[in-house]
Amino acid sequence: MAGLVPNARSRRVAESATLAISARAAAMAAKGLDVVSLGAGEPDFPTPGPIAEAGIRAIQQGKTRYTPAPGVPELRAAGAAWLSSTFGLSYTKDEVMVCAGAKAALHMALDAVVEPGDAVLILAPYWVSYPALVTLADGNPVVLPAVPEQGFVHDAATLAAAIRQHRARGLILNFPNNPSGAVPSRAQLQALVDTAAEHDLWILSDEIYSTLLYDGATHFSPAALPRGRERTLVVNGFTKSHTLTGWRTSFLAGPRAVIDAACRIQSQVLGNPCTISQEATLAACQQPLPDELARRMRAFDERRQYLVAEINRIPGMRLATPKGAFYALVDVRALAAQRGLDDVGICEQLLEKHLLAAVPGSAFAIPGFVRLSYAAAMEPLQKAVARLRAFAEAR
Ligand SMILES: Cc1ncc(COP(=O)(O)O)c(C=O)c1O
Repeated sequence: MAGLVPNARSRRVAESATLAISARAAAMAAKGLDVVSLGAGEPDFPTPGPIAEAGIRAIQQGKTRYTPAPGVPELRAAGAAWLSSTFGLSYTKDEVMVCAGAKAALHMALDAVVEPGDAVLILAPYWVSYPALVTLADGNPVVLPAVPEQGFVHDAATLAAAIRQHRARGLILNFPNNPSGAVPSRAQLQALVDTAAEHDLWILSDEIYSTLLYDGATHFSPAALPRGRERTLVVNGFTKSHTLTGWRTSFLAGPRAVIDAACRIQSQVLGNPCTISQEATLAACQQPLPDELARRMRAFDERRQYLVAEINRIPGMRLATPKGAFYALVDVRALAAQRGLDDVGICEQLLEKHLLAAVPGSAFAIPGFVRLSYAAAMEPLQKAVARLRAFAEAR
């Protein structure tokens, strides 16, 4: 044997760019450097008390053993009820699987629907893990270039042309979008759903930011629109809204046959999602803490408005107002052209010279842009703005 070597499929999968940047920033901070780390999409608020306490109670009550692979029936039912009351989605408990985070839900979903070699369309800018997850499912990720001039929402004609060109079988949607913050109107989303329906595509809809909306925006799930339900798999949960980041739970909802398949896969690769976390998530479904969510949204909104106002005053940078999630996707194309740098070079310099960790847009297939997370307190955001300005004004 020539030593133990990773296989070809794993070699095609790169490390998550956002996790890599955060790890680098953490290593610099550990050396005592005053690094501002806006790389990660993790709220700075703790998991709300009542949800954390439900987890503690679960341990005290001995709810620490295996559960059914798709999750405890009470949570599957509560997930279905939450999806119905919050987004108007109609699922039975058997059409909802509890998963270990949105990432795992996306993985199980793709494993359940992708045939080897299937072209799966991913709209740029996209969350970093989609191409890797499609590759791991033996599919062929096909990226549609970003449309910043259209507010980052693709139109039906562009989508239809790409479907025909690549003979696509599936489409991944992510609204509100990470990294652009785009939220399509109902009509825009319906046009994408209609196009998918006309070409018989399945849709995997990652809606993990669906309750983080600004300026009166409304979230629509493709599964709630005409022609959407029968072809859509919905991923949602409390990761981002209620800081369940480390608890690792989520929901995957969709037509029964595919959910059953995903449950079989999950039973083989995961067993069950963490039992304690399921109890905490049940509490989140039963008591989603609207006042706490509203308080968080006020804080995110204040930060968002601050960044939009300040960044648009920095020479060479533009920031379109995000409508959802908690990311600022800064257009640095003018500055990059002036400096003879690309977005990766800009992020290198921001980190090395100005101690600001941001993610290059290239990681999301939108070169010339830089993503900052504003799931961070005002103080680091103020430092970040000062550092961006110092970088832009440096000769
Ligand atoms: C669009 C999107 N989907 C999924 C995830 C992963 O969420 P989870 O922590 O629930 O796996 C993230 C995390 O950053 C995300 O931004």
